[in-house]
Amino acid sequence: MIKLSQIKAGVVGWPISHSLSPRLHGFWLNKYNIEGAYLSFAVAPEALGDFISAMPDKGITGLNVTVPHKESIFPFLDEVGEVAQKIGAVNMVTLREGQLYGSNTDAYGFLTNLQQKAPLWSAEQGPVVIIGAGGAARAAIVSLLAEGVPEIRLFNRTRGRADKLAERYDDPRLKVYDWAERSQKLSEISLLVNTTLLGMTGQPPLDIDLSLLSPLAVVYDIVYNPLVTDLLKQAKLRGNPCVDGLGMLLYQAAPAFEAWFGQAPMVDQDLRNYMLGGL
Ligand code: ATR
Repeated sequence: MIKLSQIKAGVVGWPISHSLSPRLHGFWLNKYNIEGAYLSFAVAPEALGDFISAMPDKGITGLNVTVPHKESIFPFLDEVGEVAQKIGAVNMVTLREGQLYGSNTDAYGFLTNLQQKAPLWSAEQGPVVIIGAGGAARAAIVSLLAEGVPEIRLFNRTRGRADKLAERYDDPRLKVYDWAERSQKLSEISLLVNTTLLGMTGQPPLDIDLSLLSPLAVVYDIVYNPLVTDLLKQAKLRGNPCVDGLGMLLYQAAPAFEAWFGQAPMVDQDLRNYMLGGL
């Protein structure tokens, strides 16, 4: 048994009760017999700076960062990795030699889930459509541009937010369209991604007509509750390959667990089943 009882990590957010991260890291701690702890920290926005600065005193080695702190945490960190800077969001903080280092594994989680669940998809197959313009959309954009997709068609209810993203990335492959055009622009794409909350339990479904979508195009919904959203139900009926959002949650967590607890964890069906029990 690895004796690492001194290692303490957790997730910080406000509120935090909804977070599945303690269940996820708890599964791995148990599986690998690691005597570490992974806790939930409910920290209000105005208390974030003090909380982060006190990480060394509290003996916290690593923190996942969730809503609403992923952007506001930047000023409290000593260093931020390149991917996190590109995305403009930090989802993990690691204490390294007394320094607080922010990074982002959402783009990794997004892409690894896609590669695992849709192994036949590859970037050069054609344009992709992204729905949404928040932090999750930025993680998807950063990873897909880096993969070499030829074009991203971006749609957001509030067009101005999507225009800002296009300015931010300043890449001719990233093209913004009006929200009303989302169904018409599905032809010839290789991948459709929903990065919004639409389709989540308690939210309306994403209203989109898939008639023009090639049956070979992958449909990826980052929502995982429910696992099969309305969008994925529609896509499955048409025979499109589908990717649900649970894997993104699992894969974004794996590098954090490895960084803090020293064990590369497995993402497998056992873990998926266990996580589904927590939804
Ligand atoms: P995250 O960082 O998790 O991506 P966010 O920054 O709050 O979350 O972004 C939420 C996304 O869902 C946005 O693209 C938002 O569109 P707006 O920019 O127009 O707000 C989108 N969204 C949320 N509710 C929506 C709805 N009812 N219809 C369409 N888009 C919606």
